Amino acid sequence: MEARIVKLADGRTLEVRQAKQEDADQLLAFLPSAFEETDCLLMTRKEFDNTLDQGTDFLGKIAASQTQLALVGILDHVLVAVLTFTVRDLERVRHAGEVGLIVSKDSWGCGIGKTMMSCLHQSAEGNSETTKIDLRVRLSNRRAIKLYENLGYQVEGWIRKAVKIGDQYDDHYWMGKEMPFDDRY
Ligand SMILES: CC(C)(COP(=O)(O)OP(=O)(O)OC[C@H]1O[C@@H](n2cnc3c(N)ncnc32)[C@H](O)[C@@H]1OP(=O)(O)O)[C@@H](O)C(=O)NCCC(=O)NCCS
Repeated sequence: MEARIVKLADGRTLEVRQAKQEDADQLLAFLPSAFEETDCLLMTRKEFDNTLDQGTDFLGKIAASQTQLALVGILDHVLVAVLTFTVRDLERVRHAGEVGLIVSKDSWGCGIGKTMMSCLHQSAEGNSETTKIDLRVRLSNRRAIKLYENLGYQVEGWIRKAVKIGDQYDDHYWMGKEMPFDDRY
């Protein structure tokens, strides 16, 4: 995907581009604080123990991959968002992939999540093989569900007791969107 510079509603500009190996140090600063800021992600802060070498290696593999995509959102030179799109490289499921999205909490509500998803849609439109985008989201994650619904994603399934936090369970929705992915929703 070509890098995109997008003007946010508050006038700031967000650069969205594919992640590179050189982003590893910023990513390793971003991810632990993101895991601490929200319990909407599957991983907890204490479970995240990647080193800079592992991060660099991971980003190198993604950059070289035909089936994985990682986008970063950069605001004032700081990495504030990461989107991953993972496709299993098997003939029968290669048409679909699953999204993961994280925006730094102090930048929530500025349209960054929407912009990251819109860049994924643009990239998927340019890939003749991808015809479906899926994601899982906690039922209590109203902000994320609203974001995806606004973009035309529909609830396709419901997984009961998908996560347990302390002694509280929460369910997951499976949501999905089919081609066309452009933002005529
Ligand atoms: C979910 C997440 C990616 C959204 O990112 P964001 O940059 O805040 O998203 P946007 O600003 O583009 O859009 C958020 C939408 O939710 C709406 N919203 C905000 N708070 C809300 C709430 N409490 N209930 C419902 N909708 C809400 C906003 O109004 C906006 O919709 P609009 O465009 O119609 O105004 C971000 O909050 C995040 O990273 N959360 C933690 C990780 C996570 O949950 N990831 C998704 C896992 S599936």
